[in-house]
Amino acid sequence: MQCTRKIDDDLYWIGSEERKYSLFENIIPINGISYNSYLLLDEKTVLLDTVDYSVSRQFLENLKYRLNGRKLDYLIVNHMEPDHSSAIEEVILRYPDVKIIGNIQTSKMLKQFFNFDVDSSMQIVKDDETISTGKHNLKFIFAPMVHWPEVMFTYDETSKILFSADAFGTFGALNGNLFNDDSDFEKCYLNNARRYYCNIVGKYGMQVQSALKKLNGTEVKKICPLHGPIWRDNISYIIEKYNKWSKYEPEDKSIIIIYSSVYGDTENVANILANKLSEKGIKNIKVFDSSNTDFSILVSESFRCSNIAILSTTYNLEVFPKIAEYIDHIRRMNLQNRTISIIENATWAPGVSKSIKEQLSKMKNMNVLEKNLSIKSSIKDEQENDLNNIVDEIVSTLK
Ligand code: FEO
Repeated sequence: MQCTRKIDDDLYWIGSEERKYSLFENIIPINGISYNSYLLLDEKTVLLDTVDYSVSRQFLENLKYRLNGRKLDYLIVNHMEPDHSSAIEEVILRYPDVKIIGNIQTSKMLKQFFNFDVDSSMQIVKDDETISTGKHNLKFIFAPMVHWPEVMFTYDETSKILFSADAFGTFGALNGNLFNDDSDFEKCYLNNARRYYCNIVGKYGMQVQSALKKLNGTEVKKICPLHGPIWRDNISYIIEKYNKWSKYEPEDKSIIIIYSSVYGDTENVANILANKLSEKGIKNIKVFDSSNTDFSILVSESFRCSNIAILSTTYNLEVFPKIAEYIDHIRRMNLQNRTISIIENATWAPGVSKSIKEQLSKMKNMNVLEKNLSIKSSIKDEQENDLNNIVDEIVSTLK
């Protein structure tokens, strides 16, 4: 049975969602996701992106139902990552006369992923080029590296709808609530939207900024992303989030404390630090054990907060592997402009603070605070002053 929704004049959501994959891109934990695909029924019929192969049966039934016997004229490929493109070949098999619209990069990737005759199926478009489908004029706005190099947005100049590929999307299934104002976005999606942005596109802040600049001054009534709810209300909210995230500006002036602890002594220091900070009026502190918190959450929370405290034990003479992994992840995602405090714990081989500093020095504008603390096995009363100095230094940067 079909499962489609009318979302505007001539426009239908024909995607699907699933909750069976526990890892997105086989690495990032998720609890459900939607794959959005859109069908515009104008004088010409236009499919905007396909879906992951895992939900392709439902998608193909949706497509057939909404076409209702009409032929498919165009397939616009805004993004070639297989969670949106792996059903393309199935579409070609069923609608062999369809014209695929994409750019040069799209064409290269189609040839890499598939074996059909791409050249004879494709219409290559340029940045800012417009096509008419009857009532609707569709403009292509290239947004390279707003996840992959071939990414483009399609802007319907007639309805003022932006088809934004990965941008403005989120992890999480829709649960039938297709539009952003169908649910409390901050409660239901914000953490997942941030985690999605930071771990998927976070590295490419400069390119996201370029794409946002291209959209400046464009009237947008709806945003149709490839994952998550369709934005039809309070659109400036999600655009402002993207602006902040892509400029590597923290959303909250607060601190996350990330520790490694083998036998609980470093965890104890993390708890004491959190309590001392709270006593000084710091709110919304979050403490994470690096050993049992997925990296995607640590990256996302690091994008959210202005300050990070890293507490690492020494392990085989080096930084604890989970802390080293965390630092590597925020470096990979190009995190910048954060204020960092470091505390180390070693029973017989101190010195990991230095290694952590060296790693952070490879990143942009990471302000490592001067006060530090080296603990031997467990914190002692005589070290309370040193810890208080760290607290005061953190507080001075937060207030
Ligand atoms: Fe949802 Fe970059 O693909």
